Amino acid sequence: MSGINDDIKLIDENGIRIDGRKADEMRPLKIEAGVLKRADGSAYLEWGKNKVIAAVYGPRECHPRHMQDPAKAIVQCRYNMMSFSVSDRKRPGPDRRSIEISKIISEALEYVVFTENFPRTSIDVYIEVLQANAGTRVAGLTAASAALADAGIPMKDLVPAVAVGKADGHVVLDLNKEEDNFGSADLPMAMIPRTGEVLLMQMDGHLTMEEFDKGIEYAKKACQEIYEIQKDALRRRYADQGGSDETDDEFSSIDEEA
Ligand code: CDP
Repeated sequence: MSGINDDIKLIDENGIRIDGRKADEMRPLKIEAGVLKRADGSAYLEWGKNKVIAAVYGPRECHPRHMQDPAKAIVQCRYNMMSFSVSDRKRPGPDRRSIEISKIISEALEYVVFTENFPRTSIDVYIEVLQANAGTRVAGLTAASAALADAGIPMKDLVPAVAVGKADGHVVLDLNKEEDNFGSADLPMAMIPRTGEVLLMQMDGHLTMEEFDKGIEYAKKACQEIYEIQKDALRRRYADQGGSDETDDEFSSIDEEA
């Protein structure tokens, strides 16, 4: 979000956004669980033009050892954007932004995992953004929690996440890239719909109290919707495929040859 730009019209006179959505409408979201054979758990997500993959290993022995916690597991998340995921080639490797996002996602996930069941271990979560179009931190967290569940790690619940914000004076759900760049507020959040617990909330820009409340209402409703899509992905993985590791016959035959 870089501030208000009067030249760009983000919402038309009928309240329709540049990608044709209404203010409280989410971009199409698809999640597939168990897409990688080598990881303990994984999920692939497409959310509008975002493409994100998450992989989980663990619980496994924590290295370096000085990071071990004798009372519980630690959740170590690495959020990474591919060089080709954005319009200007992104310099590979961690930067301030990815370190921040990795931290907030680790903290949200650590809250739901029953970490005390696995002392001295580490649960490693890798999030790779293949294509970015705003909202990648919430897409990453949504994919990562599905991947944790796919890995069979005991957790309180899944963590659906979404961003709300403000564009052309309207509160809008699930900002796209233009709204993120030229809008005047961005409020990513994660919430467990069952309990109403908020696991992530960040705020960039300004909202009045009324706008904030409206944004939270939009986000709550969307989190419920995302939660159902996450559960459906896991159901398809475990019910339809009988929990088999054979996620895709075409790919497994390539694997076997390798
Ligand atoms: O992705 P998210 O909205 O959670 O995080 P952000 O820091 O608000 O970034 C918004 C968007 O800016 C990303 O989703 C990318 O589409 C874009 N971006 C970029 O083009 N180049 C970067 N180095 C970082 C972000």
